[in-house]
Amino acid sequence: MITFDAVTKRYPDGTVAVDGLSLEAPTGEITVFVGPSGCGKTTSLRMINRMIDATEGQILLDGVPVQGIDPPTLRRGIGYVIQQAGLFPHRRIVDNVATVPYLLGWDRRKARARAMELLERVGLDSALARRYPFQLSGGQQQRVGVARALAADPPVLLMDEPFSAVDPVVRTSLQDELLRLQAELNKTIVFVTHDIDEAIKLGDRVAVLRVGGRLAQLADPKTLLSDPADDFVREFLGRDRGIRRLQFVSTAGLRLRTDLTVEEGFGGGTAEPWALVVSADGAPVGWVADARPDVLEPFGTFVHGRDSMRSALDAALLSPSGCAVGVDENGKVVGVATREALDEALAEAADG
Ligand SMILES: Nc1ncnc2c1ncn2[C@@H]1O[C@H](COP(=O)(O)OP(=O)(O)O)[C@@H](O)[C@H]1O
Ligand SMILES: [Mg+2]
Repeated sequence: MITFDAVTKRYPDGTVAVDGLSLEAPTGEITVFVGPSGCGKTTSLRMINRMIDATEGQILLDGVPVQGIDPPTLRRGIGYVIQQAGLFPHRRIVDNVATVPYLLGWDRRKARARAMELLERVGLDSALARRYPFQLSGGQQQRVGVARALAADPPVLLMDEPFSAVDPVVRTSLQDELLRLQAELNKTIVFVTHDIDEAIKLGDRVAVLRVGGRLAQLADPKTLLSDPADDFVREFLGRDRGIRRLQFVSTAGLRLRTDLTVEEGFGGGTAEPWALVVSADGAPVGWVADARPDVLEPFGTFVHGRDSMRSALDAALLSPSGCAVGVDENGKVVGVATREALDEALAEAADG
């Protein structure tokens, strides 16, 4: 656990970047610091591994004040990932990842084997290991940055806007990858971002900071969205707070229709303008419109009862039918959520 105990940072020019910050980042969880530019996120993060020292107050790592630990020792247990990955341009990818193991004096073969294992872990082809950073895409470089931070298996990971410089599609896959990794690794992660969507997606707990380095609210994402502490937090969450909140509404109660499917190859139709073609083994194949029975239109699925209403809405938006296809864990169709059913469920969610 990382504890901030009344931490203040005043820079020599008098700027108070962080002001009396007290919070805990629990072991094995992702704590996100989010807030507008200049609110003290980077300063807060860097005080944990003593790249910056606090002016007042204490930061404790499992109860031990970091001020009492010499920086090299401290950083051995703390991985650090930054925007643009910060890779050494003149070193091959494998050697970039092995940086800390080399520093720790590992045997070169062991360090490289560890690096190769990590590259695979973060979803990179082993063929990339011999390349130099400039020969990789931005997204691939970020993955290398994450692999490098994990190389010595530190219990703590600090991430400062690691995905902010890549395009939205790559960003989404990097976020998904981090969540997948975290489910295996259970690191204590402090993640800094200015993007509230990213904060809500990744955070077990989210600390919203305001300029001046003061904590506006610390809460799990669901509570943040349903009970913003004040106008600042409400405004920062934005107007589509209602839609974001749907991530936490289950599809278990969503009404599904089973009379809108036809089996592949059997033709025929339904009483409705759209029919969902389903393969013999139960997988969705595509939508057909009454008017154009020979054209398969795209469909979107959600796992009924497991995925959120947000996923169901996204699934509906993927298809011109406006319906979302409910499937089970094996991808077999269990029924169709029509626009009416979605509206009904959304109205209920709004009431609740
Ligand atoms: N070395 C420094 N000297 C003086 N002021 C600084 C220094 N570093 C950051 N600041 C100021 O401290 C405040 C917080 O900065 P920072 O922690 O980088 O914010 P964030 O990461 O949230 O954008 C800003 O007003 C910034 O200008
Ligand atoms: Mg910053």
